[in-house]
Amino acid sequence: MQEIVALTKIPGNNTLYQMLSYHLGWSGDGAGESAQGKRIRPLLTLLISAAVGGNWESALPAAAAVELIHNFSLIHDDIEDNSSLRRGRQTLWVKHNLPIALNAGDAMYSLAYIAINKLSDTTNAHVASAAQGIISSTCLALTKGQHLDIALETAQDATIEDYWEMITGKTASLLAASTQLGALIGNSPVPIQNQFYQLGKNIGLAFQIQDDILGIWGGSEQTGKSVTTDLISRKKSLPILYGFKNENFKQLWLQPITPDNAHNLASALKDNGSYDYAKVKAEEYTHLALEDLQQLDNGSEYFTALNTLIATLINRTN
Ligand code: IPE
Ligand code: IPE
Ligand code: MG
Ligand code: MG
Repeated sequence: MQEIVALTKIPGNNTLYQMLSYHLGWSGDGAGESAQGKRIRPLLTLLISAAVGGNWESALPAAAAVELIHNFSLIHDDIEDNSSLRRGRQTLWVKHNLPIALNAGDAMYSLAYIAINKLSDTTNAHVASAAQGIISSTCLALTKGQHLDIALETAQDATIEDYWEMITGKTASLLAASTQLGALIGNSPVPIQNQFYQLGKNIGLAFQIQDDILGIWGGSEQTGKSVTTDLISRKKSLPILYGFKNENFKQLWLQPITPDNAHNLASALKDNGSYDYAKVKAEEYTHLALEDLQQLDNGSEYFTALNTLIATLINRTN
């Protein structure tokens, strides 16, 4: 934290630091545990580095980097999605303004690179350089996924195939990087790193499907986000694409969607079986992730913690 203050301090003006600190839930209105997010990406990196026999302290720079990349993506995502609420608090762009929040997101992104570079102190040059490569390619995959997410809002012919490509980029890529980095830093051989990558990807796919479910049928109190935003911005989430199989829903979708009628649309979607379909898909990917984990299990106690973490995510309400 001291370091973030130093790095983001502008002489005579601390607003940039305050913005980053606010977004991370460290300070400002509503600061505290619930405003700091679940931090599952760094948790996966640290647990996996220890599970494969490494020292989790060496993985701290990578854990910080994945969480900072995640938070950079959230600051930009809230602008891109026109979202006013995040972790139960006003989003950064609503609290300040769009250009300055965009810039704060860029600062968060830069801090992630400063963090990952510190692996050269805790590991070795080879691991540090490989980790930097993983972060760079992940950022590109994430932004490609976000591009598709935004482009699909206005697409007339979005398919379920587009959806898998979108969420593989926007969400699964960072979770896959988080698990791969843990294995890399714990000195696992490349084939094992790749298996951990696959594990993270499956966790990420299940995670985003659950996020889509919560984005339509979740409670705003629990998610800390507006539950009608996905419908109003016409996100092509999995329940919506499944809903398009039904002519009645297709007709409803063509009407204007407002905060008032979004709830009716959500009920119609549930009646069409979209909720059940999405839930089954999230369970399928969770099951695949648990199978991946079982294959990697070397008997370390950290695998028990990883198993519990993955199995719990499917029932998350925030
Ligand atoms: C939200 O991620 C964005 C997605 C990729 C679905 P999280 O649900 O991990 O967000 P926080 O950090 O816990 O708030
Ligand atoms: C998740 O975006 C992916 C990224 C932020 C990169 P969403 O738009 O689906 O996530 P929420 O629901 O706003 O957290
Ligand atoms: Mg969003
Ligand atoms: Mg989004």
